[in-house]
Amino acid sequence: MNKLSFKLGMFIFIFMIIVEAILFFFLYKSLADNRIEEVMDNLLSRGNSHRDVLEKRFDESTLNHVALMESEAKTIVVITDYEKSVLAKSEPVNESLDSMIHSNISEITHKGLILHDEWKENKYVATVSPIRIDGNVEGFVYMFANTAIIKGVIKELSNQFMLAGIITLFLTVFAIFILSHFITRPLVRMKLATEELMKGNMKVSLGYKRSDELGQLSNSIVILAGDLERLKEERKEFLASISHELRTPITYIKGYANIASREKISDQEREKYLRILKEESEHLTLLIKNLFELAKMDQNQFVIYKENVYICEIIQKVKEKMTPIFKDKQISFELKCEPDLQVAVDSERFHQVLINLIDNAINHSGELSKVRLHVEQSKPGLITISISDDGNGIPKEELPFIFERLYRVDKSRSRSLGGSGLGLSIVKEIIEKHGGQVHAESNLEKGTTISIELQEDG
Ligand SMILES: Nc1ncnc2c1ncn2[C@@H]1O[C@H](COP(=O)(O)OP(=O)(O)OP(=O)(O)O)[C@@H](O)[C@H]1O
Ligand SMILES: [Mg+2]
Repeated sequence: MNKLSFKLGMFIFIFMIIVEAILFFFLYKSLADNRIEEVMDNLLSRGNSHRDVLEKRFDESTLNHVALMESEAKTIVVITDYEKSVLAKSEPVNESLDSMIHSNISEITHKGLILHDEWKENKYVATVSPIRIDGNVEGFVYMFANTAIIKGVIKELSNQFMLAGIITLFLTVFAIFILSHFITRPLVRMKLATEELMKGNMKVSLGYKRSDELGQLSNSIVILAGDLERLKEERKEFLASISHELRTPITYIKGYANIASREKISDQEREKYLRILKEESEHLTLLIKNLFELAKMDQNQFVIYKENVYICEIIQKVKEKMTPIFKDKQISFELKCEPDLQVAVDSERFHQVLINLIDNAINHSGELSKVRLHVEQSKPGLITISISDDGNGIPKEELPFIFERLYRVDKSRSRSLGGSGLGLSIVKEIIEKHGGQVHAESNLEKGTTISIELQEDG
């Protein structure tokens, strides 16, 4: 009884019944009143026409003639003189007719009047028409109709209304049944689908091809289910790679710690192993720090403090910081920056982005090659920062994935360089938090270009 279809159906049903009842009531009343008025008018005009005959000839034979004529009809005529003594009648005057005849007539015009029309209470309805000869009222023509006739007419009308009412009721119930099912069936299916989703079954199909709001809703549920499943898969994969990422350095650390603690090895060797231990634990610390940063970004706890800065100034600082590394690797660095360009960024985060990208470029470039950093206004209001190298490049099929977390193209090479595959995903998150975009282009063995696009006004 708590079902939506039932509630909806009940609501519409009650509403329709009230509307139908009101309509039927007014229709019935006006029809019934019309019929009664018709009967009364007929009675009066019949009385008036008898009166007209009598006004022409007010003698006994005419009186009898009128009474005789009326005795064939369903109505009754009683003709009296001015004092209300009966002169002629079509039927014997019983008590109720007599009391009606003697009821008080106040004002009466030549058109006559309706004397009694209380058809529900009385046995007769009555009209009276005055017989006026030479300006004097000489008598009255009383017309009576048995109310059984009116009651019969009304009863027939009631029966017709009853039948119409029953048919309408059936049609209403049928229409409501169809309507509420049409509305609630898809809702019920969607409810079942979401219950399945809650249980963890993501393979829901609703099979609705409707273009109305319900169709759109069921489409959204199907899309949501797909998204949920993808998220679940991604999370599974991510957790698997994280545990792998954490396990590898720890295995190294354990192994080298074991070797370093042996008594037989030389001081030189011990020093080497301790250095590796230090490097691995630094790598682990960095990995955890980066993961933590990404987790903060996911929870929207990562706040960006934008301020208007001359972008070349930041880049100059990054260049100074990286110079020893370039020297060490014998890689040249070319910086082209239009000096007046201002952009709203979080300097510290932006610094981090540039270091990550330059670090990648250096790591994948050979000796004596070149890394270029160009900053320009590519379109009005749009600043493009591109970092390109002549390194080994990225295979086309790997390119779409390099911004994913923990993704590395050449696992062993990247690891030996200390990479964990988080750099580019952090870059992407930071740039997107700034309202910008990052793209990568690469040619195998020719080099890679990563470009950042930022809105000038932030
Ligand atoms: N300039 C580049 N040239 C060639 N390959 C690149 C370049 N930049 C990135 N890649 C590839 O994309 C992968 C992902 O880069 P990302 O910076 O996210 O991770 P990483 O450098 O391996 O590790 P991390 O930056 O976390 O220390 C790298 O492992 C590398 O294979
Ligand atoms: Mg990197």
